[in-house]
Amino acid sequence: MSTAYNIAQVRSAFPLLRRTVHGKPLAYLDSAASAPMPTSVIEAMDRYAKHHHSNVHRGVHLLSQEATDAYEGARTIVRRFVNARSTREVIFTRGTTEAINLVAQSWARSSLSSGDEVLITHMEHHANIVPWQLACQATGARLVAAPLLPNGELDMERFRALISPRTRLIAVTQVSNALGTILPLSEIGLLAREHGIPWLVDGAQAIAHGIVDVQAIGCDFYAFSGHKLYGPTGIGVLIGREALLESMPPWQGGGDMIRSVRIEHSEWNELPWKFEAGTPPIAAAIGLGAAMEHVESLGREAIAAHEIALAQHAEKALLEIDGLRIIGTAAHKAPVISFTLDGVHPHDIGTVVDLEGVAIRTGHHCAMPVMEFYGLPATARASLACFSNEDDVQRLVAALRRVCEVFR
Ligand code: ALA
Repeated sequence: MSTAYNIAQVRSAFPLLRRTVHGKPLAYLDSAASAPMPTSVIEAMDRYAKHHHSNVHRGVHLLSQEATDAYEGARTIVRRFVNARSTREVIFTRGTTEAINLVAQSWARSSLSSGDEVLITHMEHHANIVPWQLACQATGARLVAAPLLPNGELDMERFRALISPRTRLIAVTQVSNALGTILPLSEIGLLAREHGIPWLVDGAQAIAHGIVDVQAIGCDFYAFSGHKLYGPTGIGVLIGREALLESMPPWQGGGDMIRSVRIEHSEWNELPWKFEAGTPPIAAAIGLGAAMEHVESLGREAIAAHEIALAQHAEKALLEIDGLRIIGTAAHKAPVISFTLDGVHPHDIGTVVDLEGVAIRTGHHCAMPVMEFYGLPATARASLACFSNEDDVQRLVAALRRVCEVFR
């Protein structure tokens, strides 16, 4: 494990980690669902609330200008963080789900017609399935899903075979939230380019683990959430290729997204505001900017190296537990470990480990087709973050041994 990575110092930035749960210190292993915020994020939002709270793009008074500067400043940080070409391509949304719905409602509804196909995979989160189902229902298009291999990797042969002249959009996750699989985006991108098909990447589970460079990925749309990157809930981002965004109609109408409004006709604002109707989540955007700065200060490569080493150690330790099966054993994985314990329902696992102060997620992880593929109702899932340490892993293992005592 990296010696340069000072885990005690990393942990000290997260106040949530100091609390106790059921009288025990918290071992937080659920950052894939929502990652805690460091003090710098909480303080950035607090500063806005105490000193600058006001609306953006609307007032000539000083507070409104300050709020606008902070909000647009956050957009500049996002652009840098993901290496988008320009801030015109950075649209604030409520989260990944809203970012994907934006594309489904605006691009898909205006571009798809009967007989067209949208290609996804069997390991998508519901947020990268249902918006396309709705768009397909509205347009007569068809949703097609490429299957998985038993180890949780994407079956690339079948994926390739499913691309046809009818395929109008490819929408894939970068990292499976239920399995941890990292998808081969460079291969998928090559196929998309070869066939001239726009493609969207759901980056919700990837954004916190290593460097995300949207220009290097080469996708047309990239969606992610703030709260999985140590930022607040209620904020996310859609990165879109400018030419496509220009060609797309707005999906929500209201203030700020217009240049002029007459009763008969309105004209749209320029990018990115054309897609940001109404008062945006100003404080949350500022918090997201601060979260990105925090991650940058730790070093994204250092975080990734720490997490991967710890995940490998955790998988080994978990496999020593009798009857524990890891679901998703792809060669390239993010620090997400889904597992089952013979004879114990995942919800019972979650309940007992919670009593030991260990927070994990149990359920279908909003990825029911993955559960169906493995013939499981649910799994337990431990997910690691920049602050996770060996003690968290030991605590999880001890709590699971307790589960075995209780249920076997
Ligand atoms: N999508 C989130 C998860 O995987 C909530 O837990």
